[in-house]
Amino acid sequence: MNWKEIYTQRLTTAEDAIKIIRDNDRVVFAHAAGVPQEITKALVAHKDDFQNVEIFHMLCLGDGAYTRPEMLSHFRHTTNFVGGNTRRAVNEARADFIPCFFYELPRLFRNGTLPVDVAIVHLSTPDADGYCSFGVSSDYTKPAAHSARVVIAEVNDRMPHVGGDNHIHVSELDYIVETSNPLFEIPLAPIGETEQAIGGFCAELIENGSTLQLGIGAIPDAVLQCLQDKKDLGIHTEMFSDGVIDLVEKGVINGKCKTLHPGKLVATFLMGSQRLYDFADNNPDVALFPVDYVNDPYVIGRNHQLVSINSCIEIDLSGQVCSETIGLQQFSGTGGQVDYIRGAALSEGGKSILAMPSTAAHGKISRIVPYLTKGATVTTSRNEVDYIVTEYGIAHLKGKTLRQRAESLIRIAHPDFRESLMEEFIHRFTLTR
Ligand code: COA
Repeated sequence: MNWKEIYTQRLTTAEDAIKIIRDNDRVVFAHAAGVPQEITKALVAHKDDFQNVEIFHMLCLGDGAYTRPEMLSHFRHTTNFVGGNTRRAVNEARADFIPCFFYELPRLFRNGTLPVDVAIVHLSTPDADGYCSFGVSSDYTKPAAHSARVVIAEVNDRMPHVGGDNHIHVSELDYIVETSNPLFEIPLAPIGETEQAIGGFCAELIENGSTLQLGIGAIPDAVLQCLQDKKDLGIHTEMFSDGVIDLVEKGVINGKCKTLHPGKLVATFLMGSQRLYDFADNNPDVALFPVDYVNDPYVIGRNHQLVSINSCIEIDLSGQVCSETIGLQQFSGTGGQVDYIRGAALSEGGKSILAMPSTAAHGKISRIVPYLTKGATVTTSRNEVDYIVTEYGIAHLKGKTLRQRAESLIRIAHPDFRESLMEEFIHRFTLTR
């Protein structure tokens, strides 16, 4: 049978495809902007047909309706990264959180720690040889499809064809549901004076020829805006968004100096606006690979001058960083932060930067604190932290004593909090005899 015959034979509706899901199954949804749309709607509409089905995903755009209280006996969400649409469910104990590095997930699927019963993926239309692209989401999505007992695919003629190790053959799909839906987009975060100042300090740390990892949001976008005068930058990152496109079009990002995949914009997923999805479509310079490759610290470290820029929630005076909880409340997850901090540490000439506004809650709370908030998680340990940036400057912590760390962190704290932090400094570091 040729692939076209297989494809036609496996075509079905979302309502029919979900009948293969059994009670107590673990169902893995494609990630981020790649979240399946029609199958998700069908599951919610037919919730009474399911008991205790686990829905695993990391960040997923969309309404997350399967996490609503009325879904509880039907679906239970599990994740290692909380988003706006799942935060309440996790913090109200209606959903579960698994602490985990992003790059580890595929291994947990493969080795049976988190066996995948059903993978629900979201693909482009097939190419001439019958291969569909995972489009904007290779990450754990492709490995989940390869580990699953059953693969249900939404084949969407609006999913971009994105290259790299990002394809699956039609013969590996068990059920195919054709759709024509625009992908979910995320709005651009507004960049204020604080983010601009942070962007400027980060840019000071980025030398020409560096390869960058940037996250999402106002700070990464502000950093990118401050890089207009740099030369020969490259991208090896967990994800990128619209901010990268302008610098590619200006020739600032050209991947010329990259020591791994020269010339390529390497990522594991993409999330942004339709402009980004159009940019990536059939673009030979964009290469997505599964996360156990892209985020493997040893792979990251093969890039010379790898500079990673991520954000955090609070840091204590010794350099312990919390990036994912507000006290006991799970706000997000570790994601790839530690993958890149470790990768940058292995990279020749590499640096890792954690950039954050000096305060939260409209200036009422300092993010530089004597002690982490009760219940807070240490995402990045003090042994691994390198540069911290706020709108007041740069603190370089690697190789520094506890006294030096505290001094340099207090220097970049908000002026309203420096005095109380100084009192703590004196208490800790004044000779007692
Ligand atoms: N105490 C109390 N509240 C705090 C706080 C603190 N120390 N720090 C932040 N907050 C609150 C903010 O006020 C804000 O609340 P609001 O939504 O009501 O305005 C909220 O937490 C989010 O803070 P903000 O700084 O706007 O978050 P962000 O969207 O820039 O994300 C992280 C910052 C740290 C949560 C995010 O970068 C993350 O999840 N990092 C870990 C994963 C990672 O680095 N992955 C790799 C990159 S892809």
